[in-house]
Amino acid sequence: MSHGHVALGIDIGGTGMKAARVDTRTGELLSDRVRIDTPQPSTPAAMAEVARELVDTLRWYGNVGVAMPTIVRHGVIRSAANIDASWIDVDAAALFGEALGHRAIVLNDADAAGIAEMRFGAGVGRAGVVLVLTFGTGIGSALFVDGHLVPNTELGHIEIDGCDAEDRAAASARRRDHLSWAKWAKRVDHYLGRLVMLLSPDLIIVGGGASKQADKWVPRLTVDVEVVPAAMANNAGIVGAALASRQGGEG
Ligand code: BGC
Repeated sequence: MSHGHVALGIDIGGTGMKAARVDTRTGELLSDRVRIDTPQPSTPAAMAEVARELVDTLRWYGNVGVAMPTIVRHGVIRSAANIDASWIDVDAAALFGEALGHRAIVLNDADAAGIAEMRFGAGVGRAGVVLVLTFGTGIGSALFVDGHLVPNTELGHIEIDGCDAEDRAAASARRRDHLSWAKWAKRVDHYLGRLVMLLSPDLIIVGGGASKQADKWVPRLTVDVEVVPAAMANNAGIVGAALASRQGGEG
């Protein structure tokens, strides 16, 4: 079923599941964003049920794009850092497809956000090596080379000083450890320094929940690379998922 330039994106996170209709020509949301808490435990069956609720609420009948906070290889979940471990090896494309009654295209959440930022946001027209990082419950990464995505990079999980980077520098770590913006920015700065050493990016786009308050921490970064806040705030995952649902089609 074709909807012209309208597509549906669902962005699944460790704490919330969000969906909206998206104009694939402009990246704008065409409906209110609908949000439901991620069920706990966040099992495949429980989350597929919530996805159906979201799609029903938006009265959508067609293909959907689904962004997951996990490695997604050809529709199959291969990691589970911030969701239930029972997701591992689940064919999410088949599960959501069945629950929603239409084809589901499933991809990593940071990859989805990155696709949206490159198409409509802070990465428009940017060639070279561009790294998009999302700071939320975890840290997600999307790596682009001349606009082409290298899917499923997991740069939130590099080890720094014996710790998982996301455990120290995700937005959730700032709240958990009651850190000031300055203290948390220092952790992020240290993390970005390692990434710059490893990848020599031309640009780093910082997104996720923490990008809403980018003015509180981005100006404090000292790392030797251009760092800009994501332009699409927290909707990038939804928009990127919606774009992905049009794979091979117009958009
Ligand atoms: C996961 C990534 C995900 C990121 C943001 C990390 O813990 O390993 O796959 O992109 O969180 O949700």
